[in-house]
Amino acid sequence: MRLTHKPLTALLVLFSAFVLTAHAQGKKPLPQLGKSSLKQVVDAMTVEEKAKLVVGMGFKMPGMPPPVKGEKPKPVNIGGFTLPPSDPEAYDVPEKVAGTAGRTHAILRLGIPSITVSDGPAGLRIDPTRPNDKKTYYATAFPVATLLASSWDTALVKKVGVAFGNEIREYGVDVILGPALNIHRNPLGGRNFEYYSEDPLVAGSMTAAIVNGIQSQGVGTSIKHFAANNQETNRNSINTIVSERAMREIYLKGFEIAVKASQPWTVMSSYNRVNGTYTSERRDLQTDILKREWGFKGFVMTDWFGGSDAVAQMNAGNDLLMPGNPDQSDAIVAAVKGGTLSIAQLDANVTRMLKIILKSPTFKGYKYSDKPDLKGHAAVSRMAAAQGMVLLKNEGAALPLTKGKKVAVFGNTSYALIAGGTGSGDVHKAYTVMLPQGLANAGIKVQPALAKAYADYIVDAKAKQPKNPNFFMAPPPIPEMDATSLVEKEADGADAAIITIGRNAGEGADRKVENDFTLTDAEKALINGVSTAFHAKGKKVVVVLNIGGVIEVASWRDSVDGILLAWQPGLEGGNAIADVLSGKVNPSGKLASTFPVAYQDVPSAKNFPGKEFPRPAGQAPNPMVGAPSEVVYQEGVYVGYRYYDSFKIKPAYEFGYGLSYTKFKLSDVKVSAPEFKGSISVSVTVKNTGKIAGKEVVQLYLTAPNQTLDKPAQELKAFAKTGLLAPGQSQVVTLTLHAGDLASFYTDKSAWVADAGEYKVQIGTSSREIAKSVSFNLAKEIVTEKTHKSLTPQVAIDEVINK
Ligand code: BGC
Repeated sequence: MRLTHKPLTALLVLFSAFVLTAHAQGKKPLPQLGKSSLKQVVDAMTVEEKAKLVVGMGFKMPGMPPPVKGEKPKPVNIGGFTLPPSDPEAYDVPEKVAGTAGRTHAILRLGIPSITVSDGPAGLRIDPTRPNDKKTYYATAFPVATLLASSWDTALVKKVGVAFGNEIREYGVDVILGPALNIHRNPLGGRNFEYYSEDPLVAGSMTAAIVNGIQSQGVGTSIKHFAANNQETNRNSINTIVSERAMREIYLKGFEIAVKASQPWTVMSSYNRVNGTYTSERRDLQTDILKREWGFKGFVMTDWFGGSDAVAQMNAGNDLLMPGNPDQSDAIVAAVKGGTLSIAQLDANVTRMLKIILKSPTFKGYKYSDKPDLKGHAAVSRMAAAQGMVLLKNEGAALPLTKGKKVAVFGNTSYALIAGGTGSGDVHKAYTVMLPQGLANAGIKVQPALAKAYADYIVDAKAKQPKNPNFFMAPPPIPEMDATSLVEKEADGADAAIITIGRNAGEGADRKVENDFTLTDAEKALINGVSTAFHAKGKKVVVVLNIGGVIEVASWRDSVDGILLAWQPGLEGGNAIADVLSGKVNPSGKLASTFPVAYQDVPSAKNFPGKEFPRPAGQAPNPMVGAPSEVVYQEGVYVGYRYYDSFKIKPAYEFGYGLSYTKFKLSDVKVSAPEFKGSISVSVTVKNTGKIAGKEVVQLYLTAPNQTLDKPAQELKAFAKTGLLAPGQSQVVTLTLHAGDLASFYTDKSAWVADAGEYKVQIGTSSREIAKSVSFNLAKEIVTEKTHKSLTPQVAIDEVINK
């Protein structure tokens, strides 16, 4: 057993001795978790112990000084952020794993251990080195969620989950704080890289796949942030005004799919308010919908410092408050004594937590190795990264590059590749493979003088970068190197050019339109200069996009021959990009979020990130609290392609789009019956008609009849990826629809209803590349599900603003 376990082991021995003595003296032995029934354990807990269990042990915020011994902990200010005080126990009780995000309290007399939770969605976030310890604890940076979703391959994403879960377990952590699946409502969302898609079916299916993979390793997940957490601006205060229908069909749907298909151990509630009330304080969300309607069996924890009222959170069924501080436990005890929190509710929250603690590796005494197979996991990361990259353009067969070709590699980011985003979604990885290294490994020659100029420039620019004022803030990007004087020479000497454009973001801030969604002047000049010089010599130019969220492409894409969307591909990034550029892997990724022509085309452009109101008199600005603010989801269910397709707005690259180095033909589309009776299947033959092996994604879009409700022109209802098809090889893909897939949410009826009428099924390889339409009929309307009336405003908006 590891050193840090010793205090816990000693205490457990002591308490077992106490239990045995009590028994020998004829006293009733204390119930013990795992040995006694849950009810016996809960009944044996004092109110104070229950209130301790449902409040985390605090955490050591990077840069936060420890509380002063003997003094009541005070709020702390780090780089402009005022943070609530942490529980002194976070500093006093030795951590099981250094650098995790939080822990629960142990109640040792009842055999309840403390469990450890840690970020984040793209890899385990723990301290890579520890004081007085020569060993290292680096973790694998897997590709970000947006890339994984672009694979449209749930089996692949599950494989990533298995490797990820193994790493979590072998580093001694019980629950990973991910995956994250908020909807890409707007391309500027600062955490979009952590999220999968603009579409809830893709987001929910990917989440279920990775959760099933991770949890197959005996550790838990926390799907987050529940719900409608679609922006970072004023994330702790924003009041999201959204219809119940948009919540049910778009913002909750992915969570519903994931809960039903994978039973994550935990769910993390979000920071924002929905229709006036913090999500963590909404009983309709945390209890009626999540637990009752969907059958969620685990527990709900708050996001870190989320919400404002511990008792309201308990009453809502938000079972655990994180990271936790003793004031919250005191408030809970007082509420039970004062009658504003029933013991039955507190017991329900405690019981849910105990059920998960029972499954945890810590409870089971798992002897973790601290030596996960990092090499094996890096191989999984590389393989997955190559499968999720999207080939956006490939004119004149610019790609693949052949072995032995000499390539001039431009763009700072080629030499400072971004493996993943910042904040809690960042991973302490041992290395990131840069693009020139990856190309060299693939047998492609990188022009050395240009590479050296960039490498020198980056070392110099990095040394000049200001330090981050706090953990949340990412360093500003290094200005693009001016390569003008080098371009002509490279156009003479090299066979082709690659230019990498990079973008990074993370929690705490949203992206901006200028110089982030759009290219900077220096980037535009680089693309122009390189393209003009190389094209003059009849040579090709390929742009690699190393980005976490959607950017503007329409204004510059005509200047280049190829565009590979590599997203943020994890620690093996350079190798994975080279796998695709060299043709070792034939790209098969498809967009899971639309690339619009212009930012103004985005349906939420006018309503992002909302408006701010004056602060109450005397309140100092504090990003941890945010300004009084409100955002209206005026677009309703018309998010992403649901909007572009319904309102006939042409995107730059549509949802579901992606090229391959081969060609496919879809034929023989058949619907199993003309009339819908319980379910219906659609089959299609996919044939590789090109010259090299490849995979294709079959997408099924449904157009439902409009009786009284406005519905999107089409919605993705099923998808599947083929196996690797050799040239000439075919595969029959069958997709099945159930009654629920036909239904829309009728707010006035509090029900999901499939309207009677004709349903049009479009089978294609993108939302606009439709091979064939077929239809079937539904004779009589079906009410597929009755729900609780939910999510109505609980307080007047004015009241929230002035709070
Ligand atoms: C983030 C969560 C994260 C938590 C713990 C919060 O700031 O929003 O996603 O899991 O911190 O680090």
